[in-house]
Amino acid sequence: MGRVYNFSAGPAVLPVAVLERARDEMLDYQGSGMSVMEMSHRSKKYLGIIQHAESMLRSLMGISDAYDVLFLQGGATLQFAMAPMNLITDPKGQTADYILTGSWSKKAMKEAKKIFSQIRVAASTEDEGFTRIPTRGELRLNPDAVYAHMTTNNTIYGTEFQYTPDTGKVPLVADMSSNILSRVVDVNRFGLIYAGAQKNLGPSGVTVVIIRKDLEGRNANLPVMLDYKAQVAEQSMLNTPPTYAIYILGMVLDWVRDQGGVAGIEQRNIRQAERVYGVIDASGFYQCPNQKESRSRMNIPFTLSKPELTDTFLAESTKAGLMTLKGHRSVGGMRASLYNAMPDEGVEALVAFMVDFERRYG
Ligand SMILES: Cc1ncc(COP(=O)(O)O)c(C=O)c1O
Repeated sequence: MGRVYNFSAGPAVLPVAVLERARDEMLDYQGSGMSVMEMSHRSKKYLGIIQHAESMLRSLMGISDAYDVLFLQGGATLQFAMAPMNLITDPKGQTADYILTGSWSKKAMKEAKKIFSQIRVAASTEDEGFTRIPTRGELRLNPDAVYAHMTTNNTIYGTEFQYTPDTGKVPLVADMSSNILSRVVDVNRFGLIYAGAQKNLGPSGVTVVIIRKDLEGRNANLPVMLDYKAQVAEQSMLNTPPTYAIYILGMVLDWVRDQGGVAGIEQRNIRQAERVYGVIDASGFYQCPNQKESRSRMNIPFTLSKPELTDTFLAESTKAGLMTLKGHRSVGGMRASLYNAMPDEGVEALVAFMVDFERRYG
């Protein structure tokens, strides 16, 4: 079987050029006579790999020296707990704000509730089935919060912030797992950014954390693995890091640079998302439940006006090499994830299939 078009929400499609490079270097990484997988993380060659990954991320995202970059394990889910653990100094007296825009932000808040005695919901669209992002005017932010937390893109519901909330002096903490590097973002607006790699950055197993230095070391009593400051002091090598995942991530970042950087990728993402939403909006057969202004460029959920045809759509699309289009179990229908590495040909194949399916069954 050749390559399919993979619309998975994560782990997700990777650039073919990266997979080919990994294949070519599999048995002998740059004359070392071994695979990166077999290499000591303390070796000179490996230090080159991890330093390259960090410097590429800094240059692509414009991360200043006021921030540290970490490559950790435990996924974004561990960050749901690490962020509150590290930022809090008084669990009884302090509180944090959470903007609820979907399942992931709810999960993040649930973890924070185990650490803080009080959490405030600064805004929520749960009553509306998370079909939109709250407007700036709807945010009820507490100026005394230790931080405010947001999920920049809601992988399951397919909504995305089109703006960065202004939290004043309160550090903004963002889960960017499903849209990091997909659009130009001013990192200086954030106190802490985290993202599991397995959507836009690389394979699963590594989590990127970008933290403003003044937010490190507030809590001296944390186990070292959970302490940002301790991780920074050892440059993410407090223990053996996920070496191979970081190596692939570095190559994905090279690939992003070759696509014109984040700005170039963003234009492509806009174009691709417009193609799919265009088909949905032009038809009475496909529907997207979300408010137009809140739509995600990364994850596009859609349903059929004849829901009894959903299984047929999925079976036929799979047969046509358009994989993993099934919607999340909590939403149903279909979901097309168009992460950075989705080629234009994949989007065109999906669009052609949707038009043809409607012609045959609509
Ligand atoms: C927005 C968001 N946050 C968090 C997670 C959980 O990430 P992980 O599996 O890396 O813990 C996901 C996974 O899909 C996600 O989409």
